[in-house]
Amino acid sequence: MTKIELLPSVLASNFAQLGSDVHAAIEGGGTALHVDVMDGHFVPNLTVGPPLVASLRKVVSVPLDCHLMIEDPDLFIPAFADAGANWISVHQEACANLDRTLHLIAQHGCKPGVVVNPATPVELLTEVLDLVHHVLVMSVNPGYGGQKFIPNSLNKIAALARMRAERKLDFRIEVDGGVDLTTVADVVKAGAELLVIGTGVFGHGDIRGNAAKLLEAARSATLTRV
Ligand code: DX5
Ligand code: ZN
Repeated sequence: MTKIELLPSVLASNFAQLGSDVHAAIEGGGTALHVDVMDGHFVPNLTVGPPLVASLRKVVSVPLDCHLMIEDPDLFIPAFADAGANWISVHQEACANLDRTLHLIAQHGCKPGVVVNPATPVELLTEVLDLVHHVLVMSVNPGYGGQKFIPNSLNKIAALARMRAERKLDFRIEVDGGVDLTTVADVVKAGAELLVIGTGVFGHGDIRGNAAKLLEAARSATLTRV
């Protein structure tokens, strides 16, 4: 079982004070930053791109985990890698040639990840599980922070953990969307290790304290994992 990590999702931060927000989240225990990239086509929202990654790169040393919710991600992988991305995740649903796209990410020096939406079975990933650093299970429909966790995500996380064990693979399991103090123990017990949390960290109150509490809840759940 790999280390449980908190990945604060900057979408929920206050972009007018992004530097201090992300430093507080890292001080609270965040060990990578999740950057939600949306193009208004693959998902019904428009967010940030390589310039924001380049700015973050200048002020933090933790890995930047770029979640590309965009059509035809091949066009932008070089730009995100040049901007300083460390991990790049692409949606299975957005890639006509997923195997080629995952190799392209690795050729640009980044760790490749593949993402599945709530309606996409993890079994569709069988042929690429040996190519990826992580599999990202969307536990909400992508496009917005602050949505409600979809419970069936737990079955998908558990199925991935079984597939990994059976095939003796070493990809990591990331979960994204609606993870907070009420759901974090369940996702960890199901087998998730990379916990993307936006609203739960940045949405209210003390960012540093929120991150620390969430990480504590996640780590204590591993003690009761079956
Ligand atoms: C949704 C994004 C998630 C989202 C998580 O499309 O991929 O990363 O920002 O935010 P919360 O934790 O608020 O659901
Ligand atoms: Zn995301």
